[in-house]
Amino acid sequence: MTDLPITRRYAKTLSPAGARPTGAPDWIEAIDNPYLHGLYAPVVDEVEADDLPVLGELPRDLFGSYLRNGPNPRFAPLNRYHWFDGDGMVHGVHFEDGRARYRNRYVRTRGWQTEGEQGAAVWPGVLGPFDFSLPGGPLKDTANTDLIVRDGQALALWYESGRPYALDPRTLETRGVETFDGALKVPISAHSKVDPATGDFVFFGYGLKPPFMWYGVVRPDGSVHRADVELPGPRRPHDLGVTPNYSILHDFPVFFDDDLFRRTGKRVPLFHDDVPTRYGVIPRFGDGADVRWFEFAPCYMLHVVNCWEDGDWVVMLGCRQPDLHLHPDPRDGKLGSMLSGLAIHANLYRWAMNLRTGETQEGPLDDAHTEFPMIAPGALGRRNRWAWHQQIPHAVPATFDALVKYDLTDGSATRYRYGEGVYGSEAPFAPRPGATDEDDGWLLTFVTDVKDWSSACWVFDARDVEAGPVAKVKLPRRVPAGFHAAWAPGA
Ligand SMILES: [Fe+2]
Repeated sequence: MTDLPITRRYAKTLSPAGARPTGAPDWIEAIDNPYLHGLYAPVVDEVEADDLPVLGELPRDLFGSYLRNGPNPRFAPLNRYHWFDGDGMVHGVHFEDGRARYRNRYVRTRGWQTEGEQGAAVWPGVLGPFDFSLPGGPLKDTANTDLIVRDGQALALWYESGRPYALDPRTLETRGVETFDGALKVPISAHSKVDPATGDFVFFGYGLKPPFMWYGVVRPDGSVHRADVELPGPRRPHDLGVTPNYSILHDFPVFFDDDLFRRTGKRVPLFHDDVPTRYGVIPRFGDGADVRWFEFAPCYMLHVVNCWEDGDWVVMLGCRQPDLHLHPDPRDGKLGSMLSGLAIHANLYRWAMNLRTGETQEGPLDDAHTEFPMIAPGALGRRNRWAWHQQIPHAVPATFDALVKYDLTDGSATRYRYGEGVYGSEAPFAPRPGATDEDDGWLLTFVTDVKDWSSACWVFDARDVEAGPVAKVKLPRRVPAGFHAAWAPGA
């Protein structure tokens, strides 16, 4: 094996024996980059397996599919690889009648097809250098970030704002780009939301040119409302909040150094800790001029937990990152910024905005480092009590070592540690049919044990995560670490 000094330094997610992860391509061997090895090493094939072995008992009324998206580079990268660059691959486990089956498929994006025809990578990743003459722009829309289940299909979405790729939630085949019969004319970011009460699909997108942000709603009848939202410059919003009457847009003081970008083509996000965070409250069908901005202490946030209205107040809970300064280790050379940037330090936090008086409130609910929050889908936009997060150990950036259940009324938590060398993935909530309690249902997560590279899908009773999984479904292959997951109800 090639000597991999940087990879070795981040070796906690490598097998203790140093064995190469199962199912990985040969070309990773020559590349010293932690996000191509260990828990993150891509897999090369698309497989399926029925009637998976189960330890414990699968609930008979667990009916539907656990789907998880994530980066899985198909070809050796042209330049420095960033974890966010890989082609979207969805891994799914379908549950029905107490049985489970697995399959995985690449999202057949335009970029995936073009590179397949070339037999090699065509686009460099987000670390550049950028070639604006490439088809569709300098970055490849990988659809690798999130999955939104809506109207009988799963939409694979990309955080940099791309086209929604529609997948069959059972077969994971790519049906094509969802344009809503041509009504959606702008790229959208990964974290769109579906209002469970109305079916409205609320989205936003962002770009390098004015107005820098756009916002909109696809109504159930397929018509699209859209508003341009002017920001002071290009920004990096990742998520938005939704309540029945409003959406909450994000403007964080984390943006690229324009000078550096123009001179060198490098996109290095800088944290301006003297510039306030701003949240913009817009009526669901409002225009850009209707946005009311509220200022808060400088920070960044990837993911909103939930939002709701409380009299004149709009409340937002999220996973706040107080310090986005990069602290690259000189030994990491050209990978230093990426590795520093992926060390997520985030806490459960509450912001509130008074629409009548303009008053604001903010403060932490917990000091543990957790992210990738999930709530019961029916609770979106309504005041709720429970959220389930992944705990992030600092020694191993962007890995999850425990499932945490938060009581949002006071920030108290219970947790289940996956075990030594075992790492989880985002754990969406599957409601129990006929349930009336908010937390009556199951949580699903993929876990991988780096000691033998086995992967499994664990099922938790969402009411009692401390009790550990009620069933463990053995998977036929290793599943690499990834991004977001969704529950697609079988009905
Ligand atoms: Fe995300």
